[in-house]
Amino acid sequence: MNAKSDQDLLLDHNYDGIQEYDNPLPGWWSGLFVGTIVFSVLYLLYHHSGVEGRSIYDEYEREAAEVFEKRFAELGELSPDKETILKYANDPKWLAVGEAVFKANCVSCHGDGGLGNVGPNLTDDYWKNVESVEDIAKVIANGAAGGAMPAWKNRLSHPNQIVLTAAYVASLRGKGGGGGKPPEGREIPPW
Ligand code: HEC
Repeated sequence: MNAKSDQDLLLDHNYDGIQEYDNPLPGWWSGLFVGTIVFSVLYLLYHHSGVEGRSIYDEYEREAAEVFEKRFAELGELSPDKETILKYANDPKWLAVGEAVFKANCVSCHGDGGLGNVGPNLTDDYWKNVESVEDIAKVIANGAAGGAMPAWKNRLSHPNQIVLTAAYVASLRGKGGGGGKPPEGREIPPW
């Protein structure tokens, strides 16, 4: 206890016999509190003032693009042939890249998990433009049905994305549990 007695520290008021000490918040605590407010203002000004490249979305996109580039450098230039597509269709690490492309660009027409919407069901054994697995990459690159299925070769930032997306589409076959849009086209043998 310091020089003051307990009695000196007591505040005057008294609620049903309950009294309290005059204990101010410690300086470091108030300092921290004010600091967070100052930080939030600076943060808001820096990240949300609309300057290009400073929002967390822009930062995310930049970092994601860097990661993409690094990962693609690891792969080299993939060729859209049967062996390559089937190899990556069984490689969970790279399938995630195809899945991300699919979710961002294809789900609107092909439905969640490729079950079909405007575009055909990609999980069944019936295909309109595909006879063998490498045709998937061709359809993705060049489109089909006069643009009803858009061509993606100039829209995706890296050619490997087409191969990895084709691998993801190939991997969807048989995963629909028989649900989704009714079959279109003819039945083709397994990949
Ligand atoms: C604007 C709507 C639309 C978008 C977006 C779209 N597709 Fe399609 N896709 C279609 C349509 C429609 C067809 C059927 C074309 C036909 O009738 O021959 C199709 C066909 C296909 C086929 C061939 C299916 C078959 O039965 O032969 C594949 C594979 C395919 N799309 C993959 C993709 C992928 C991968 C993406 C995303 C990168 C994508 N599509 C984005 C509309 C779309």
